[in-house]
Amino acid sequence: MLNIIISGAPGSGKGTQSDLIVEKYTLKHLSTGDLLRKEMAEKSELGQMVESYISRGELVPDNMIIDILLKHIENQAEDSNGIILDGFPRTVAQAEALEIMLKKLDKEISVLIDVKVDENELIKRLIMRGQTSGRCDDKLETIKKRLDVYHTLTEPVNEFYKNSGKYISIDGMGTIAEIFDRISQTIDSKR
Ligand code: AP5
Ligand code: MG
Repeated sequence: MLNIIISGAPGSGKGTQSDLIVEKYTLKHLSTGDLLRKEMAEKSELGQMVESYISRGELVPDNMIIDILLKHIENQAEDSNGIILDGFPRTVAQAEALEIMLKKLDKEISVLIDVKVDENELIKRLIMRGQTSGRCDDKLETIKKRLDVYHTLTEPVNEFYKNSGKYISIDGMGTIAEIFDRISQTIDSKR
């Protein structure tokens, strides 16, 4: 079983690299951002509740997202070589909840891959994507807020996984193919 967390700031390439990893290693991709945007597009009760957080660049409350994610892990952990978590855990409380859940399922995280990208490059990528993505959070003011939230609430998750020896950082600058090569080497060394 290969259970990977892909972490990094907004725009670091988590989604882009997850697509490539899923294909190469036959994993299930669980992106909490994608799940929430789907709910918003469907205008479900949950979608309406989370919209104001996402459009302000804030995190959705832990209890809400933990419930959603845990349900999906239970449903999807079977019939694949493992899972790749993209955008979760995003707070230490989420990491603690995830660890409890995985223990119950007799599973564990293999590695957290932290994709490191310079701040100017992150902003450039997201502004560019904003021209076509239709994402309500891809505008400069909201991007800055998302970066603040990342440094304050999400970076401490790295410490959590450093303590268990599962943290690896990857240079996320360069072409998509170069970065995927670096990530593949890391994954292969963990199998
Ligand atoms: P989420 O959807 O997770 O967004 P994010 O973390 O802000 O990251 P992005 O999806 O914007 O970027 P990415 O790292 O996936 O990069 P991508 O591959 O797209 O979360 C959105 C919101 O949902 C949160 O703000 C929060 O409100 C809520 N939420 C989600 N999870 C939550 C949780 N667990 N708890 C609470 N709230 C939660 O790449 C970005 C762009 O760059 C693309 O256009 C891509 O084509 C391009 N690109 C990629 N790689 C390269 C490269 N090497 N060179 C040039 N361009 C590149
Ligand atoms: Mg993404």
